[in-house]
This record gives sequence, C-alpha cells and structure tokens, in this order.
Amino acid sequence: MSGQNTSHSAGNSGGLKGFFEEYPLAWIGVALAGVAGVGAVMASNGSLKMAQKIDEGRGPVSIAKAASGTKMAARTTSSHTGRRAVIKRPNATPATLKLGETLFKANCEVCHQADAIGKPGVAPSLINQELLSIASDKFFAGTIRDGREDTGMAPFAHLGRSKVLAIVEFLRSHQTAPDRAAEVNNQPDAHGDPRLGMQWYENICSTCHGVAGDGYMAGGTGTAIGLKGFLNKATDGFIRETVKYGRSNTRMRGFQGPAAIANLSDQEIDDIIVYLRKQAK
Ligand code: HEC
Ligand code: HEC
Repeated sequence: MSGQNTSHSAGNSGGLKGFFEEYPLAWIGVALAGVAGVGAVMASNGSLKMAQKIDEGRGPVSIAKAASGTKMAARTTSSHTGRRAVIKRPNATPATLKLGETLFKANCEVCHQADAIGKPGVAPSLINQELLSIASDKFFAGTIRDGREDTGMAPFAHLGRSKVLAIVEFLRSHQTAPDRAAEVNNQPDAHGDPRLGMQWYENICSTCHGVAGDGYMAGGTGTAIGLKGFLNKATDGFIRETVKYGRSNTRMRGFQGPAAIANLSDQEIDDIIVYLRKQAK
C-alpha cells in the first residue's frame, strides 16, 4: 500500500510542530486542557507533579524542543514498526485476499475509507502498523462479529465466520510490522490508582476520547475507549502499548518519551487503564 508510513518516525514527521500545524485547533485543546489541568490540580491537594508534566510539553519553547527530540525518540522506537516486507500468513491465499477485499469494499469502506486508512471522527484506521502488530486475530474477528455497542461500529455476525476471517486476512495483508499480539496480550494486568488515572484521563485523553470515554459520540476524534465494546475485547497490554506508542498517521500520539505532549510513566499509564476499567463497570 503506497504512501502508508510504517515507522514511528514517519508517523511523526514534522514532530509536534507538524502536529500543531496540521491541527491548529489542537492548540485550543491543549490550552483548555492546560487551564482545566491547573484547576484540577489546585483542587486536588496541589498535586503539582501533574501540572508540571503537562506543562513540559505545552509551551512553544518546549514544543520546539520536543520536536527536535522527536527524531531521536523515533529512531529508538522504530524497531517496533520499521519498514519490512508484508508478513506472510498461511491462510492468505490470493482467493481469500480477493474475497476479503471485496467484502471490505462492500461493508466497511464507507466508514473506514479506501485501504482502511480511517477518518477522524468517523472510523479508525485499521492498517496502521501499531494496531496490526498488537491486535490478535481474535480481537479483529471478535470486534467485526460483535461490533461496538453504542458506537458507529455495527456487528457483522451475519457475514459468518469464514467471511469475517477473509476480511481479517485482507487487513493483515497491509502488515509489515512483526506480530507482537501474543507477547502484548500476555502482559500482566494493570495495577494502580484509579483516582490518579481519572485526573490524567480528564486532563489529557478526554479532549479526543470524550469525558465519559464515549468517543465520536461526544464529538471527539478518538474512539470510545471508555465503553465495554472496546474494553471487553482489549487486554491491558493492548491499551498500554497503544498509549505508549500511539498510532502512525492518526491523531493518536504516543504518550511516552521526551517528544510526547505528556511523558507518562508506566505506572501513570496503568493508573489510566485501571480508571478506564473501573468507570465502565
Ligand atoms: C489528539 C487526540 C487524542 C488524544 C489526546 C488521545 N487520543 Fe487516544 N486515540 C485518538 C485517536 C484518533 C484514536 C484512533 C486512531 C484512529 O483514528 O485510527 C485513538 C486510539 C486510542 C486507543 C485505541 C482504541 C481502539 O479503539 O482500539 C487507546 C487505548 C487510546 N487512544 C488511549 C488514549 C489515552 C489513554 C489517552 C490519554 C493519555 C489518549 N488516547 C489521548 C486520539 C487521541
Ligand atoms: C457505519 C460505520 C462503520 C462501518 C460500516 C464499519 N465500521 Fe468498523 N468501526 C466504526 C467505528 C465508529 C469504530 C470505532 C468505534 C469506537 O468508537 O470504539 C470502528 C471500529 C472498528 C474496529 C476496531 C479498530 C480499533 O482501532 O480498535 C475494527 C477492527 C473495525 N471497526 C472493523 C470493521 C470492519 C472489518 C468493517 C466491515 C465489515 C467495519 N468495521 C465496518 C465504524 C464502522
């Protein structure tokens, strides 16, 4: 698939500066998040650490600094998704791939767009290497079969298992990054403090994913990560990796490393995961 970047460095081309040029409105989001963040911090017994951490990535000076650091950060992480040949799979016969593509065009393309590149606020990208490398076949097939309740993602159980699997093969035919699904899904469950997680969520994530985690329904550009349709299918490892590394060519940036808008620690990411699961109960 031409023009699809396959590394973190490519996904971040232009760094944060590029990000804010591309999405000028994001400044408003960042500014609002900043104001809200300071308020929340004041209200929460002066947990100044959080304000400082978000602040690190906020001002124009630190954005420029972060942008120049992006290349280095990208180089060190690009081993996850470096440019490689498409992963060969035993069931990916030409006939299955053709069927999968036809089914995708007929059933999915209207929302997920040609080549499944996604569209902000409409449907996510299904072919970014970060997703392909950590999503198991079970995650893909289960999500396609069951859809995601209370979102635009409808269930496609009526297609039947073999057609759903043909679509999965078609999506996989875009995959060049190594399969890390087993390793990621076997990571330990998150342990942490949901109250801290809530503060991070509200300060950083809610702008795009909605205050209640209901995603596009709340007018955001991110998916409904606070709803069961996602949470019941995604492991803690899946969420952790996505928050760390983001997704190339989408508005989901990684939240770890010097170039990130907020450089969250492993523990802070786990706090957010614990919060997401708790609020969905
Ligand atoms: C600038 C907007 C933005 C911010 C801020 C943001 N996200 Fe995202 N996030 C997205 C988008 C957009 C996607 C889906 C990518 C796509 O459109 O293809 C996404 C996807 C995800 C996913 C995968 C969900 C799925 O459906 O598979 C997780 C998990 C996630 N984000 C967690 C977070 C967390 C936690 C935070 C806060 C630390 C956060 N995001 C902040 C925009 C954002
Ligand atoms: C009416 C629009 C629509 C159609 C048609 C549609 N989807 Fe989706 N899809 C969505 C939305 C919206 C989401 C994100 C839901 C959320 O907010 O969690 C999504 C999410 C997904 C996800 C999860 C991706 C992730 O990042 O975790 C997969 C996989 C998926 N769709 C596959 C498909 C396939 C395959 C088809 C066709 C059989 C299809 N979808 C048809 C709207 C659609």
